[in-house]
Amino acid sequence: MRILISGATCVLPQGPARVDVLIEKGKILGIDPPRGVQVDETIHAEDLFLLPGVVDAHVHFRDPGLTHKEDLRTATRACAKGGVTSFLEMPNTKPLTITCERLHEKLALASEKSLVNYGFYLGATIGNLEELKSAQRTPGIKIFIGSSTGDLLVDDQQLLERIFAETTLPICAHCEDETTVRANTERLGGGSSYEDHSQIRDEAAAVVATKRAIDLALRHRHRFHVLHVSTAAETELFRDHQGLITAEVCPHHLFFNVDDYERLGSLVQMNPSIKTAADNEGLWRALKAGRIQMIATDHAPHTVEEKQQPYPKSPSGLPAVENSLALMLDCVNAGICSLESVVHWMCDAPARVWDMVGKGRIAEGYDADLVLVDLGKKQTVRNQTQVTKCGWSPWDGVSLQGWPVRTLVKGHTVFLNGQFDETVRGSEIEFDHALGGYWRI
Ligand code: DOR
Ligand code: ZN
Repeated sequence: MRILISGATCVLPQGPARVDVLIEKGKILGIDPPRGVQVDETIHAEDLFLLPGVVDAHVHFRDPGLTHKEDLRTATRACAKGGVTSFLEMPNTKPLTITCERLHEKLALASEKSLVNYGFYLGATIGNLEELKSAQRTPGIKIFIGSSTGDLLVDDQQLLERIFAETTLPICAHCEDETTVRANTERLGGGSSYEDHSQIRDEAAAVVATKRAIDLALRHRHRFHVLHVSTAAETELFRDHQGLITAEVCPHHLFFNVDDYERLGSLVQMNPSIKTAADNEGLWRALKAGRIQMIATDHAPHTVEEKQQPYPKSPSGLPAVENSLALMLDCVNAGICSLESVVHWMCDAPARVWDMVGKGRIAEGYDADLVLVDLGKKQTVRNQTQVTKCGWSPWDGVSLQGWPVRTLVKGHTVFLNGQFDETVRGSEIEFDHALGGYWRI
């Protein structure tokens, strides 16, 4: 089956160009092929932009064990709608992904259910160093340095030293300092309003833990990725990355701040917490300056009923995979950033950070994971039309210009103008850690 995508403006590694793209056997066979090339299907895409599919390297899809919130089918429908063709999922499912056996079970489950391509991190615990050392078929090791949802807290310095010294996979961490969070919790009597969340998980908690993690990575010369940076102060720590350190920012930390609690309450309660308007600005600045390399959503759905509980019972987390690309395309339309930057932050950079083979670019030999976007399309995010199982979005009521209209996974159209082809299945993402990560080129 040969497919030609014709007439679109393609965002190529060297920049946007009006060229046709030829697909065969799930891969990109040619860019700008000769006229009259024989094909089985032509996708006419005049007036649309063709981007590499979004690679969301930080999501929580709740399958197995927490499937009342989300499951691999609903989550990956949301991915397809949002232009996300590959995801990397975190280990805080039930059971936790903390052994190779569990990892392989999750890969098998995804092969049955996932409409897009998939990979799974292995979680560090206080007792699984041997598993972390021998694991394969994974992007890397996830450590919660500081507690969050789930039981994966690793806070013991000696153990952290051993994980950085004795393992070889890249490491990423959730950085919020447990001691600081505990002291703040006590000072605020546990907290009683959603706003208190940002005082309990404050700037100091984030900065202390991120510093501690970077120190470990540099001393052990171990590749390290800082998950969901939430403060401007942390971005100052990334100036001297020494070819080892990368960082990500999430849409909620770019777009929301403490002023939004009044309107949105627990819907914007996240770990790390949302911070100030000055932090929004600082995060944007760092992203544009390349001190933060990539965007990931931290898609973390909870039901409305769970979220409506009073603080601190309300769980942290919000869904985002189906709107993340549109949020950024809206910024392109508003003149805040370029389309090329969005493609770098959401497609190429995450694929490079995590050593994915054949992902993140429109180039010959790469996988035909692609998204056609209509930069002129205006649509309002509505809770009622969300396909995530939790059925709500913190962006409910927000009008955005620039939306995915067609998503292809390895050459198969999985989403087209609001309709899904649920027979499409993604495949396991291949990681080649010898590639050397983001700073390799
Ligand atoms: O807000 C969050 N929710 N932060 C995390 O680190 C975990 C996530 C979840 O799984 O709900
Ligand atoms: Zn997360």
